[in-house]
Amino acid sequence: MKKPSNKKNSKHYQKPHGGRSGARMNHSARNQKPAQKSSKPAKAAKPKKQARPDTHSDHTQVIQWYPGHMTKTKRRIEKDLKLVDAVAEIIDARIPISSRNPDIARLTSGKPRIVLLNKCDMADKRTTDQWVSALSRENVRAIPVDCKSGRGVDRFVPVLTELLSERIASYKAKGMVNPTMRVMIVGIPNVGKSTFINRISKKTKATAADRPGVTRGNQWFTVSKGFEMLDTPGVLWPKFDDQKVGEHLAFTGAIKSEVMDTELLAVRLIDLLKDLQPPEFAERYKLTDEELSLPSYEVLEKIAAHRGMLIAGGEADTERAAYTLLDEFRAAKLGRITLEKA
Ligand code: G4P
Repeated sequence: MKKPSNKKNSKHYQKPHGGRSGARMNHSARNQKPAQKSSKPAKAAKPKKQARPDTHSDHTQVIQWYPGHMTKTKRRIEKDLKLVDAVAEIIDARIPISSRNPDIARLTSGKPRIVLLNKCDMADKRTTDQWVSALSRENVRAIPVDCKSGRGVDRFVPVLTELLSERIASYKAKGMVNPTMRVMIVGIPNVGKSTFINRISKKTKATAADRPGVTRGNQWFTVSKGFEMLDTPGVLWPKFDDQKVGEHLAFTGAIKSEVMDTELLAVRLIDLLKDLQPPEFAERYKLTDEELSLPSYEVLEKIAAHRGMLIAGGEADTERAAYTLLDEFRAAKLGRITLEKA
């Protein structure tokens, strides 16, 4: 992650005094930062190519994205869905609620669906198991996977075969000798769709023969005998209706934290870490119980101080500490943490 070359941004930093962390932040904590010169909201980072983020801090942080390609992508997915027998939705096991696009259920209604809880190497194992049970109660087959190492990926085809057993049997009853089942991979950006496709596909492009109705230009990969996968995943944007969803996506790196105030984001993460209490958090930053009971912004100051992150005058460099905390959380250095309970 790129760190800004100066402290200019922090001048505009508004202490949160709404929402959860705001409620915990006392007046003295707010006074520890230089007085604001302007009531202007923090400047949003340069818009990304594929989306236009707009941030304004009005005591709480609101993220709004206006993805230009949303409608086009949805239409493309709807069209391609006619060609597949099943859909595999990839979500992030650390944030199974925030990384799910609510449109997917509507778009894919009527299609058998598998949910892959990816990045489970970074999520709390017990909570992942609870998510698998919770999803199965909703009649959704869920498989925890770690596409980076490949762990769990080998369960994909057996689960898919079971899921599509009736369909396969009905094709066979109609006289098809070896029916080919096709799957589309969908998910929000950065959940690991490409990593999964690279791991599961045999890198062999399926031939276009005996494939009536297949859109020209679409390529299919052989997954295993009788299974093919569309080579381009369906990318859907997450929904930011809830401020918490945006924050969780930013904590995990699904959206670039540049669209949010980094210190405020770190303060929100500390709120969560204080609740979840992973031992690595206190150990890594040498935080005493007394320090952990401080308001979250002050905990951030302690992290900066313990790491020797100081600016002129000996003041804690909370901006640098915020970047460090977020980077280390994303790299799972604070342990395997699931932010959303089943
Ligand atoms: P996308 O197609 O859905 O946009 O996601 P992509 O596969 O590009 O994966 C996004 C990032 O998540 C990549 O890291 C990838 O390595 C990582 N990733 C995917 N699956 C897993 C997993 O199961 N566990 C872990 N720990 N990481 C996973 P990156 O930093 O963007 O790239 P790179 O450093 O791996 O090259």
